[in-house]
Amino acid sequence: MADAGPDGWGWIEDGAMLSQDGRLLWVGARADLPDDLAGTADHVQELAGAVITPGLIDCHTHLVYGGQRAHEFELRLKGVSYEEISRAGGGIRSSVTATREASEHQLYAQAAHRALALMAEGVTTLEVKSGYGLSLAAEAKMLRVARRLAELGLDVRTTYLGAHALPPEYQGRADDYIQAVCDWLPQLKREGLVDAVDAFCEGIGFTPAQTRRVFEAAQALGLPVKLHAEQLSDQGGTPLACEFGALSCDHLEYLSAEGIAAMKASGTVAVLLPGAYYFLRETKLPPVQALREAGVPLAIATDHNPGTSPTLSLLLMLNMACTQFRLTPEEALRGVTVNAARALGLRDRGQLVAGQRADFCLWDIEHPNELAYYFGRNPLRQVVRGGAPRGV
Ligand code: NIG
Ligand code: FE
Repeated sequence: MADAGPDGWGWIEDGAMLSQDGRLLWVGARADLPDDLAGTADHVQELAGAVITPGLIDCHTHLVYGGQRAHEFELRLKGVSYEEISRAGGGIRSSVTATREASEHQLYAQAAHRALALMAEGVTTLEVKSGYGLSLAAEAKMLRVARRLAELGLDVRTTYLGAHALPPEYQGRADDYIQAVCDWLPQLKREGLVDAVDAFCEGIGFTPAQTRRVFEAAQALGLPVKLHAEQLSDQGGTPLACEFGALSCDHLEYLSAEGIAAMKASGTVAVLLPGAYYFLRETKLPPVQALREAGVPLAIATDHNPGTSPTLSLLLMLNMACTQFRLTPEEALRGVTVNAARALGLRDRGQLVAGQRADFCLWDIEHPNELAYYFGRNPLRQVVRGGAPRGV
């Protein structure tokens, strides 16, 4: 699979690729491979029968946290809502307590286990958010753990989500907490821990005015922004994020027509999260057809987190994006490759074209539509990252 051709998939039958120094040098039909280039290859591998796609990109996760929240799942099945659990002091706050208590070593061991599960399905680039620390020390701890996951053999992008929830010590002082979130950012950036800044703009999160302050702090430091937007209600977070040229707005079940127009104008990616939609038993669908008609790029991610999406399968999200959100299998695959890269501000990956990173997956399937077709089956044969085979 290469750049999208007229059939959308960019399908190349009997293809060939050349890579050099971790980048793709040439991609096309084997019959068209120029002799002079072919002659320079010092290593040739026959990949008979495999379908090749770009390495998969999970562009929205909360992979680092302590504890788990299965008891809240039980409560929700009995009829208590996610918002009620949150307002009663559970939800994100219970993960904050467990994350603060966990040592850096414990957090790393648990997060590494999760990252390996994603990698086993072909993930080569992973975004990880903070947001369960909610103090300078604990947010820094989470972000250091996230950065260290790169040792496992994948690229990690870190997102600062200090504005995820109000920590108990700031009860009744949300504006003061937002000031602290903004004040911590320069140090976290100096320590090389932040690639982007996110916030949770919601009735149980922060208001658009508070979100704006966080975005202004990010902008002042030249950091791109993203937003958990219109997940449980329409707060108008999306037009605000787009004012700041947001890389992505994520969730979007309650997105308005105004929000869609703003995303179109700012070139912001819509990151759809079918795991959270499913696990919260949400019934309001994100406006996929309107986003598609507006030409807003669609991405998909696991949103792995202990409260709303404890999944470790990006392939399952492809299937669910099709069955629940009516994406086509081709849109779903673009959603975890080229558009996921864009949601992270990365232009050097996500497509099999010359000049891109040589990150790709070999699958034991006949056509890429099978990646969205199966659920609970992993047809991955091999991963190549930066031109070198990786133990998956
Ligand atoms: O993406 N909505 C906010 N953040 C997460 C959930 C976090 C949690 O419940 O722990 C999400 O759904
Ligand atoms: Fe999330």
